[in-house]
Amino acid sequence: MGSLSSTLLWLLICATIIDAQLTPNFYARTCPTLQSIVRDTMAQAVAKEPRMGASMLRLFFHDCFVNGCDASVLLEDTPSFKGEKNAYANQNSLRGFKLMDIIKKNVEAKCKSTVSCSDILALAARDGVVLLGGPKWTVSLGRKDSRTASFEAANVNLPPPTANLATLISLFAAKNLTARDMTALSGAHTIGMARCSTYRSHIYNEANNINAAFATTKMATCPSIGGDDNLAPLDTSTPNHFDNGYFRNLMAKQGLLHSDQELFNGGSQDAWVRLYARSNYALSKDFVVAMLKMGSISPLTGFSGEIRRHCRFVN
Ligand code: HEM
Ligand SMILES: *[C@@H]1O[C@H](CO)[C@@H](O)[C@H](O)[C@H]1NC(C)=O
Repeated sequence: MGSLSSTLLWLLICATIIDAQLTPNFYARTCPTLQSIVRDTMAQAVAKEPRMGASMLRLFFHDCFVNGCDASVLLEDTPSFKGEKNAYANQNSLRGFKLMDIIKKNVEAKCKSTVSCSDILALAARDGVVLLGGPKWTVSLGRKDSRTASFEAANVNLPPPTANLATLISLFAAKNLTARDMTALSGAHTIGMARCSTYRSHIYNEANNINAAFATTKMATCPSIGGDDNLAPLDTSTPNHFDNGYFRNLMAKQGLLHSDQELFNGGSQDAWVRLYARSNYALSKDFVVAMLKMGSISPLTGFSGEIRRHCRFVN
């Protein structure tokens, strides 16, 4: 090959790397066993504690919504920045950090300094959903890890359970996700738990917008004073199974969080809630589309970011 054409070829290769889009085959050569390592470790963890599937899904959401899916949520505080772990929506509730360490260690043992923590988290979130009976999808890969994190951005970008529908829609719109994406993604609340402090005011102070018997049942484990950390399932009927029960609950005014019930309260999302309550198929389809969009929020690719050796610390 002539030197001109080989120079052009190199330019093309470099441009491709710099401009890299996420792709399912990103580690096909460099770490062919990646997906089975993550899946096996997730399967063990979920067998021991089903909630872990939910916790990894939420961890991924809280990563992606704060400066993109870059594993910033996993970083410990350092002298140069305050991390995201103690932001309002994360402190005392975000889980899965130890499991991330275990998965990362297992991946490192086979593929040293090759796979980013952000990609591992994207796979773990998908596997958590699948292991709890939810839809399966192909995860696009090639994210790098950030060298910093933002306490301030976490406090601004993550939706609080007190949010009304307009606020929820605008927080998702800020990430280029539609209201319909937001409603489908909220289907994640078909699994996992919430602390009393996040739903107390909904069960005590919103009699007009909650099923009375449901509210009374919830009061038994969430007193009006104290018991802040007492847990209740976000989906009363099947908290360890990914299905559309969450949407049927909303139609029966049995949303646990104020923000949940906002999706079915005479507003623009009622029609989607009805659809998802009726059709598991429609929910699965829209949930997957929205997860792929959420998973590609502002990824660091090519030469930006790094492959962290340990997910809690920059290299
Ligand atoms: C629409 C706005 C949302 C709000 C206001 C919200 C709020 C919350 C709150 C307050 C909790 C309980 C946290 C605690 O106990 O302190 C929670 C749990 C959870 N959230 Fe959301 N969330 C939203 C959207 C999402 C999305 C988009 C996903 C994922 C795609 C998600 C996945 C989860 C999961 C799986 C849990 C249970 C976690 C566990 O058991 O460890 N949430 N959410
Ligand atoms: C949303 O889309 C706009 C326009 O394409 C783009 O400039 C912006 O970076 C996107 N934001 C996110 C968080 O992806």
